[in-house]
Amino acid sequence: METASSPLRVGIVGYGHLGQFLAQRILDDGPYFGLTLAFVWNRNAHKLRGLVPTELILEDLSSFAVRECDVIAEVCHPHIVKEFGVQFLSKSNFMVGSPSALADPDLNQKLRQAAQHYGRTLYVPSGALWGGQDIQRLNDSGTIKALFIRMSKHPSCFRLTGDVLSDWTEGEGRRVLFRGSVAELCPLAPNNVNTMAAAAVAAGTLGFTGVMGEIVSDTALSDYHVVEVEVTGSNGFSVHTVRRNPAKLGAVTGSATYNSFWNSLLSCKGHGGRVFLC
Ligand SMILES: NC(=O)c1ccc[n+]([C@@H]2O[C@H](COP(=O)([O-])OP(=O)(O)OC[C@H]3O[C@@H](n4cnc5c(N)ncnc54)[C@H](O)[C@@H]3O)[C@@H](O)[C@H]2O)c1
Repeated sequence: METASSPLRVGIVGYGHLGQFLAQRILDDGPYFGLTLAFVWNRNAHKLRGLVPTELILEDLSSFAVRECDVIAEVCHPHIVKEFGVQFLSKSNFMVGSPSALADPDLNQKLRQAAQHYGRTLYVPSGALWGGQDIQRLNDSGTIKALFIRMSKHPSCFRLTGDVLSDWTEGEGRRVLFRGSVAELCPLAPNNVNTMAAAAVAAGTLGFTGVMGEIVSDTALSDYHVVEVEVTGSNGFSVHTVRRNPAKLGAVTGSATYNSFWNSLLSCKGHGGRVFLC
């Protein structure tokens, strides 16, 4: 485990776009930044062969503890957060790359309690959220009144649980898919609304039921995702940001989000016993 001179041992759970990026970045630049790769797990281990050094491949996720990680970064699916989150926190800090999992109030509470009980940190990466720490400060000062997030993407970039988008056609333009609380949106689009989930963590007094969101399909957005954030405070205070994140057609994750995750990982040091937006 980490000492003053030893690097932070990181376990990567999931080897999709984000997992591949983080694992490679740690292998390439980890020594400079004080990080080392403890393991990489993927549900199909064969995907890792030839790409990840054999000794770093974890075949069975249940045996993660033997790798003695300082931080475990989940970058695969909310199901894994539900199945392993509390176990991870019993042994190490945990960066939850799929924070839409926290929309489940029972799981949210269990993870918070585990972090406190074991003196670990549950890290929530800002991802594509701009100004997350400002939102958190406004929240902590007790003056946040409302928060609304609109995420607009090309229809090929959505992974929805229902079939509301199964009939899209190129050139159809803009379509509002859902509008409602982040608690309602997370189960409908678990892979697409992590940014909203991070916002619901930042604005904890509003929470998943109080933060409002909208997801919009727009065939004109073939080159980037758009995230709009509208924050309302007291006495007429408001902020409206529009973030354009370059993204290829079909990409769930915009390109700027990769570096955002890397920066989040770099800040996973010493915040014991709580939930921390990083
Ligand atoms: N916090 C954020 O702002 C943010 C931004 C982008 C992506 N994400 C989330 O991070 C995760 C990874 O994103 P990505 O772009 O790398 O996605 P990806 O689709 O490229 O990779 C996901 C990986 O997880 C695996 N996987 C899928 N379902 C699984 C399951 N039930 N059990 C085990 N493994 C499973 C897939 O095989 C794949 O290897 C996703 O949950 C995504 O929603 C969060």
